[in-house]
Amino acid sequence: MSDQVYIEDLGQHVDQEVTLKGWLYNKRSKGKLHFLIVRDGTGIAQTVVFKGDVSPELFELAGHLTQEASIIVRGQVRADERAPGGYEIGLTGLELVAAPTEEYPIQPQEHGTGFLMDHRHLWLRSRKQNAILRIRSEVIFAIHEFFHLRGFTHVDSPVFTPNACEGTTNLFEVDYFDDKAYLTQSGQLYAEASAMAFGKVYCFGPTFRAEKSKTRRHLTEFWMVEPEMAYGTLEDVMQLSEAFLCHIVARILEKRRPELEVLERDLAKLEAIQAPFPRLHYDDAVKMLNEGGIDFEWGGDFGAPDETLISEKYDRPVLIHHYPRAIKAFYMKPDAENDKLSLSVDVIAPEGVGEIIGGGQREDDLQVLEAKIAEHGLPEEAFKWYLDLRRYGSVPHSGFGLGVERTVAWICGVEHVRECIPFPRMLYRLTP
Ligand code: 4AD
Ligand code: MG
Repeated sequence: MSDQVYIEDLGQHVDQEVTLKGWLYNKRSKGKLHFLIVRDGTGIAQTVVFKGDVSPELFELAGHLTQEASIIVRGQVRADERAPGGYEIGLTGLELVAAPTEEYPIQPQEHGTGFLMDHRHLWLRSRKQNAILRIRSEVIFAIHEFFHLRGFTHVDSPVFTPNACEGTTNLFEVDYFDDKAYLTQSGQLYAEASAMAFGKVYCFGPTFRAEKSKTRRHLTEFWMVEPEMAYGTLEDVMQLSEAFLCHIVARILEKRRPELEVLERDLAKLEAIQAPFPRLHYDDAVKMLNEGGIDFEWGGDFGAPDETLISEKYDRPVLIHHYPRAIKAFYMKPDAENDKLSLSVDVIAPEGVGEIIGGGQREDDLQVLEAKIAEHGLPEEAFKWYLDLRRYGSVPHSGFGLGVERTVAWICGVEHVRECIPFPRMLYRLTP
């Protein structure tokens, strides 16, 4: 273990002898040479086995290795621009830890997505998937970093809940001893309670929606981060989401360039993500759609093609605000100047990814909220504790939720959110 070096750190060991512990990713042979491409989770590196440099047994062993054999290699690091990653290792030692007992099912040639998804537990080893999920890990770090730098306290919300947050149509119901519970759709209601106790908070966890939609943007289990600010307004939420997205993208550009290169991501598109972001009133968004030839009626919610048409007009995320009350959740505060509108905002990512953030200012008046809960047909009993927040020192407050997988899809330039979570859960996918 002591002298093990990770491939991502090879640059710090040029002209030194190092040990890599990993797996055989690929292999080529040419006369007196074997090229072993090794992966260790942090990158891939080419090692060269020259017949004249090693024992006949070692040369033979290298020649017989098969894909995904676990191996420990030793050798000298050389800088070589032509090699993947920029370094090459002149192999001097090789140990086979375990040879695969069967042929590895994922071959370098193209496979269909269904096949790859069935083998997700192995597919994670491939370069592109590795790059996406390393970027995801960095995005999650950047999220925590952003909120901690701004004095937010991380207070998590429960996963088992007695009530709905985002409407009752897509709830997962589970047996809870002699009772029923629901898997959380959003941690928001609890984050509101936490905000009244800690001021500025965020919760971050898995959320669940029994979405019957089979789109490239929908998962049934996805991760959401939800900041909530006591005394916050709609304007505060808009400013926070702008600074937040800029922070995440900047950190990925700084720390995850090799992964973005593996994904052949257009870096100029990410470098353009700078404040201020364009803002669009719902009314103006409707006008834009109509002018763009879409027959969209005022009052409706935007679908994927609508969001795409709007986002294509900009090179950075667009904040659409003041949606009609009727299409938003029960907790949204109405606009004092126009009772038909709500103090809500959605952030639409560029390049057709669609909505990545939804949020706004919350109803803080006890009577209005009680009426809203009744109007939405929600069970009064389950919301008693939530109404207490309006009974004891109610204040204006606001927050938002950001979907991690859609954000990762956008940053990575990946078509489908299913590749942006290690083990996706979808309408027709519960395994592996
Ligand atoms: O817009 P949503 O439904 O907002 C809420 O849940 C609020 N309670 C959040 C808040 O104000 N605290 O969801 C927020 C985000 C969406 O913008 C999207 O990025 C993501 O969650 N999201 C999904 N991601 C993947 N699959 C799904 N089925 C998703 N549904 C929402
Ligand atoms: Mg939404």
